[in-house]
Amino acid sequence: MTMQTFTIPIQSYLKRRQLFAQHMQTGIAIIPTAPERIRNRDAHYPYRFDSYFYYLSGFSEPEAVLVIVAKTDKVPEKHILFCRAKDKEREIWDGYRYGPEAAKEAFNFDETYPVTQLDEILPTLLADQPVIYTALGHDSSWDQRIIRWMNQVRDQIRTGVTAPEKITDCRVIMDEMRLIKSSEELQVMQQAANISVQAHQRAMQITKPDKYEYEIEAELLYTFNRLGARFPAYTSIVAGGANACVLHYVDNTAELKSGDLLLIDAGCELHGYASDITRTFPINGKFSAAQKDVYQLVLNAQAAAIAQVKPGNLWNEPHQAALQVLAQGFIDLGLCHGSLDGVLESEDYKRFYMHRTGHWLGMDVHDAGQYKQRGAWRALQPGMVLTVEPGCYIRADDNVAEHFWNIGIRIEDDVVVTASNHNILTAAAPKTIADIEELMQ
Ligand code: GLY
Ligand code: MN
Ligand code: MN
Repeated sequence: MTMQTFTIPIQSYLKRRQLFAQHMQTGIAIIPTAPERIRNRDAHYPYRFDSYFYYLSGFSEPEAVLVIVAKTDKVPEKHILFCRAKDKEREIWDGYRYGPEAAKEAFNFDETYPVTQLDEILPTLLADQPVIYTALGHDSSWDQRIIRWMNQVRDQIRTGVTAPEKITDCRVIMDEMRLIKSSEELQVMQQAANISVQAHQRAMQITKPDKYEYEIEAELLYTFNRLGARFPAYTSIVAGGANACVLHYVDNTAELKSGDLLLIDAGCELHGYASDITRTFPINGKFSAAQKDVYQLVLNAQAAAIAQVKPGNLWNEPHQAALQVLAQGFIDLGLCHGSLDGVLESEDYKRFYMHRTGHWLGMDVHDAGQYKQRGAWRALQPGMVLTVEPGCYIRADDNVAEHFWNIGIRIEDDVVVTASNHNILTAAAPKTIADIEELMQ
């Protein structure tokens, strides 16, 4: 790495496991990491661990399983890791692997075993446990494996052991833990945000008419990598002109045209944490009058939404604030007709704004955590991180004035709920009309 970045201390993963075990109260948790995935023939996708597994282990190798046994009056709490055995021959080909012995020390486990012993050891660990915590339904081959182990325990009940009676979703506990970020997590997320900010700045500076979308994508990926973030958190959207009105456009193959806008939705992943930024700017460096009108509207909607990000406000309040501003703006620009209440009621605004205003952000770009509790939007709490990303997408349409055609705009920032208000992790990415035009000069 060319840059020294803060990483979460190993001790913190141990604390997370202890907290998780407290929430379990009783039973055994089985949490495998993600499988390696083939792209084609012998070529793999770049490996990415499972977020839940990594959240509780800090261990990034594939073929690993975390087992946590909650404390009972008979046995102490136990944290167990199954991982790939040391293998000098494989390490020549694939590089270093910890192996159980070194992993035990390095990652604070009570016990570690080669993952090849999983089928042998797991049934003995399940004996006399009342409940299994696992992500049932996530991967059917794992579901079958767990049920097989349960049946092996059941086959022995005449020897006096009892088999688990219940399987519970371990993600419920972890979702709530992951939703509230620690100061260490926020530090990593700020670093990820800083790298993505630099990528967006560079993209603005390098964009010119007649370049291709993929040339700008290359600059984003170059900046991520150069600053130590080896992967984008999701496939970058680099969408010129009409392509910006395709919400999940990822072809990134078109030529950029003077007079069009360029929408870039791109963020890096750093140490397992995502950033997620969208900026929209004129390819030739100057907004047209119509582009200015729509851009300023979306920016105002974003400001109104961000102002609602504070502890105690409900999840939906930023979205509602953005909607009010956008719907009124659509009326003022002649895109929608009638009263504000009428447009909100009929949802006519959905012709131009059809998605929600944000999502939780963390290890996953659309991060863990419920948005509603018992049917009601949940209240924002310090440590929650969300995106605020209103937009406006106007396709060529006979019912719309032609100077608005193919204007697609989204402005997205990553926002932390703080004790008294909020903090914008991505605030340094230019977004006022004046700042963007100045940077692009
Ligand atoms: N980049 C994915 C999203 O904005 O939700
Ligand atoms: Mn987003
Ligand atoms: Mn995004």
